[in-house]
Amino acid sequence: MIPVARPVLGEREEQLVLETLRSGRLSLGPRLAEFEDAFAARLGAPHASAVSSGTAGLHLATRAAGIAEGDEVITSPFSFVASANVMLYERARPVFVDIDPLTLNISPEAAAAAVTERTSGLLPVHIFGYPADTPGFERLAAERGLWLVEDTCESLGAVHADGTLAGARGNLSVFAFYANKQLTTGEGGMVICPTADIKARIDSERNQGRAPDMGWLDHDRLGFNYRLSDLACALGIAQLERLEMILADRSRVAALYEQALGDLEGVELPIATGPDGARRSWFVYVVKLPDGVDRDATIEALRARGVDSKPYLPAIHLMSFYRQRFGHREGEFPNAEDASRRCLALPFFPQLTEGEVAQVAGALRDVLTQSTVDSRQSTVR
Ligand SMILES: Cc1ncc(COP(=O)(O)O)c(C=O)c1O
Repeated sequence: MIPVARPVLGEREEQLVLETLRSGRLSLGPRLAEFEDAFAARLGAPHASAVSSGTAGLHLATRAAGIAEGDEVITSPFSFVASANVMLYERARPVFVDIDPLTLNISPEAAAAAVTERTSGLLPVHIFGYPADTPGFERLAAERGLWLVEDTCESLGAVHADGTLAGARGNLSVFAFYANKQLTTGEGGMVICPTADIKARIDSERNQGRAPDMGWLDHDRLGFNYRLSDLACALGIAQLERLEMILADRSRVAALYEQALGDLEGVELPIATGPDGARRSWFVYVVKLPDGVDRDATIEALRARGVDSKPYLPAIHLMSFYRQRFGHREGEFPNAEDASRRCLALPFFPQLTEGEVAQVAGALRDVLTQSTVDSRQSTVR
């Protein structure tokens, strides 16, 4: 079975993790600052705080931005659920706006139309590694006096139209390092902090509210345990060393898919570069199946042909918890709902060979041809 994702790990990862293990400094040791500094340098960002997950990072970033109980925060319904959940941790409310069908991101224009007097912030997501219009969100935030936190969890290496890197424009932004991400530490995340003060606050809140120079038992604010271990940081340092190769390999695999699937009728392929000139960092390879094709049956049929695939992503507002809590219904965000019905993540990782891509493409072609024949027959009957 060809899996959907597989991390690239090698001798360097083993070496650094083993060295760290043998050093006896398993947490709050020297690897933490080493990883943070190397990550900030790769991005050209002033400060970075490593945390235990992207979710933890988004939680701390929204707190640092000033989220408060009763606030409305404008965000995408077509995202991993964490980007909306973090607002509920602070008793704020995610206000969804519909996505663009091509980029699958929300736009500043759609967000502007949803601003009310209760809106305190904007949380755009660079979904599937394609940069949202951050300059537009920055302008909207400045005009309406809102805070801005970028969810860059899936977009390490993505480039905006003006050449700036996603997450490196001076806003609070958050990366994630779960095993399917461009860079992995198993679990982990990184908050990019515009100022030293914000970094100090996040460093303290990830460590139970203790300031770096405080005694062992004193804490001067509410905090959490969102620390990232030195073992995970060691993994992250080794991954960062090979990041350019990982990103190049991901682009290579995406180009192979584009070649192999380009002529499949009705299937919409993800764009590498958008009309605005922004460039995707390849995180997943998600195609939109033709309208009317049964996606779940397609997944089963692909599995029978040795290919794993995933429905990706379910719209957040239609998840049972969100329906129950906020009364969301079908039809509110048609583009997000259409994407969440039709999107399918194919196997995608840097070591995928040309032969494996051909196998996946052949299986998908086969399954879709079959389902077209089946649906024609059922119309005839
Ligand atoms: C868009 C987005 N936001 C937030 C997260 C949360 O990151 P984590 O799973 O590390 O908590 C993820 C990770 O899957 C993500 O893809």
